[in-house]
Amino acid sequence: MDVLVIHTSPNHDGLTAACAAAATEGARAAGGAVENVRLNDLDVGLCQACDNGWGTCLPEHHCQVLDGFQALQARICAADALILITPVYYGEMSESAKALTDRLRRCEATRGDASGLAGKPILAVAAAGGSGNGMITCLGSMERWIHHLRGKTWDLLPVNRWSRPYKLIAIREAATAMVNAHQ
Ligand SMILES: Cc1cc2nc3c(=O)[nH]c(=O)nc-3n(C[C@H](O)[C@H](O)[C@H](O)COP(=O)(O)O)c2cc1C
Repeated sequence: MDVLVIHTSPNHDGLTAACAAAATEGARAAGGAVENVRLNDLDVGLCQACDNGWGTCLPEHHCQVLDGFQALQARICAADALILITPVYYGEMSESAKALTDRLRRCEATRGDASGLAGKPILAVAAAGGSGNGMITCLGSMERWIHHLRGKTWDLLPVNRWSRPYKLIAIREAATAMVNAHQ
């Protein structure tokens, strides 16, 4: 099973990175072929709400803003499962995660049941490394996003600084279970 782990913090060794490592380890333990993508290393800019609000995303399902998005869209759609891990910023996904998810939703949700993520299991993790506030609102928007793309919500996992030790175990186990269930 081809599993894509996308994590969206600028920090290389923080909570989000630890969650990504746990998810990667868990998916590999079940025999998954895992690719780990640090979104902030890529050039994926913001949606420009082109033309009247819909650009080519609506009729053609690709984005007319040319950058690193197109290759990542293809990579995501080729995967069998997605693990998306974001730091919590103001109770929401990080800006890089929002840029990716907004553009992907426009291109893939508009395909309906032919969405590149339709029926595929998705594990979402919200890492609140500061106050610990905002995990649920962040996961709420991630859950809506999964629904819009017709994905299958495997799990929605919140983690903060003090729950980190046992949540890393939960993330690892969730990734293992997700791969095992879809072999
Ligand atoms: C702009 C911004 C907003 C943030 N908002 C929240 C928040 O709402 N709740 C929270 O617990 N932490 C918040 N934080 C802290 C991040 O969640 C924390 O920096 C992040 O988990 C760091 O982890 P990382 O090491 O994975 O990047 C915020 C950080 C930034 C930069």
